[in-house]
Amino acid sequence: MTIPETTGPSTPEPAAKSVFIKSYGCQMNVYDSQRMADSLSKEGYVETAVMEDADLVILNTCHIREKAAEKVYSTLGRVRVARDVRRSEGRDTVIAVAGCVAQAEGAEIIRRSPAVDLVVGPQAYHRLPAMLAEVATRSTEGIRSGVVDTEFPLDDKFSALPQPTAQKTRARGPAAFLTIQEGCDKFCAFCVVPYTRGAEMSRPVARLIEEAERLAGMGVREISLLGQNVNAFHGEGPDGRIWTLARLLARLAEVPGIERLRYTTSHPGDMTDDLFEAHHGLPQLMPFLHLPVQSGSDRILSVMNRKHTAAHYRSIIERLRRGRPDMAFSSDFIVGFPGETDRDFADTMALVADIGFASAYSFKYSPRPGTPAATMADQVPESVQADRLARLQDLLGQQQKAFNAACVGRSLDVLFERKGAKPGQIAGRSPYLQAVQIDAADDLIGSIATVTVTGTGTWSLYGALPPALLTKEVA
Ligand code: 5AD
Ligand code: SF4
Repeated sequence: MTIPETTGPSTPEPAAKSVFIKSYGCQMNVYDSQRMADSLSKEGYVETAVMEDADLVILNTCHIREKAAEKVYSTLGRVRVARDVRRSEGRDTVIAVAGCVAQAEGAEIIRRSPAVDLVVGPQAYHRLPAMLAEVATRSTEGIRSGVVDTEFPLDDKFSALPQPTAQKTRARGPAAFLTIQEGCDKFCAFCVVPYTRGAEMSRPVARLIEEAERLAGMGVREISLLGQNVNAFHGEGPDGRIWTLARLLARLAEVPGIERLRYTTSHPGDMTDDLFEAHHGLPQLMPFLHLPVQSGSDRILSVMNRKHTAAHYRSIIERLRRGRPDMAFSSDFIVGFPGETDRDFADTMALVADIGFASAYSFKYSPRPGTPAATMADQVPESVQADRLARLQDLLGQQQKAFNAACVGRSLDVLFERKGAKPGQIAGRSPYLQAVQIDAADDLIGSIATVTVTGTGTWSLYGALPPALLTKEVA
């Protein structure tokens, strides 16, 4: 006998609380935001895209450069205004700051911005529900003091956070992030990450396989493995041995439904032989690598404590290209690091000219409190930084345009993720993460199809399904 799902009059569900989460910075924050949303959905929260409607606003912040960190405070001003409007209507808003600014500044955030109720560091997200309960208790007792947790606990937050939920992940599309490693032990002289995210920690392989299988079961076709230093991955395998990133990639490639794998962000010092082999031999691993170099000058690389030279970086690119000629690269660059001369900068421009990048991120050096570079002599004037950044971005922009133009006429496999800019169009990503738009029906969304690239626009490529091939569907 089957029991009907609903019987008789039911007691009304309590009205759901809503949460608005805004992520700044890297993809790891995007992943963390999703996991926080999953954990809060167990507490009865539903996500809203409208900050003004939310009972709980979480800003998941980035501390990597000063501009990113300061953005939090201007946004907090807007959130406070929205909260005051809600209060005048008899409702309240809990304001939470998460992420790396929370970790770096802790209670200082509440001193600067007293409207903030809760500050939670990236290693404490699993304690968010308990912290919210504490905020609620304090507020019924009439206490308005913030709750702060920026501890690096011994327990693993990932095992305490719930797995992604089916309903949510389907809504999030066929390309997903999966954090496999967190923290960094490299201590590049400019970087706050070792202080905000802590020491390197790799998640156990069995859990990662489980999470990948769950994602695949929800329609995910592409997984980007995330870590601040992802190729330093050294997770404990089900066999009790330490697995490398290459071994993990090979195992995840066996998960039915997972057609594409990527990883980011990596360090040139951790490009192991087995990882080169994976790039050369594992078809699921996309022929595109984001490999930050920061500078083309050995002198600057040494002061940056990068522990690699420009020649070493070039040799990595050559070796990858030798075994996989269709491989393309992106990178991160910092201009105007303390002591950088015109000659050092010329070395960076020469490296870029020699390698040819498909895309790149470049930044003016921004002194971060507590990092060794912040107190180095010879800080480079802003006007010099701006001039160098403009020249570098001009060259990188030309290279990106040339790379996109060279794709015209090529057949590329595109994973379609969403509706396109215009009706009748759908949009997805090429193996090189280029956005690709085609005219096609929505039912291709969620699958991979081979597309002939017909043209380039400012932000995306345009393509068509070759009539004869029609599709190489996988889902
Ligand atoms: N100033 C400028 N750029 C920085 N990055 C990290 N720290 C700084 C800083 N203090 C850049 C690096 C890194 C990327 C994520 O951000 O290029 O690879
Ligand atoms: Fe920061 Fe990356 Fe250097 Fe680690 S390797 S300190 S995350 S730039």
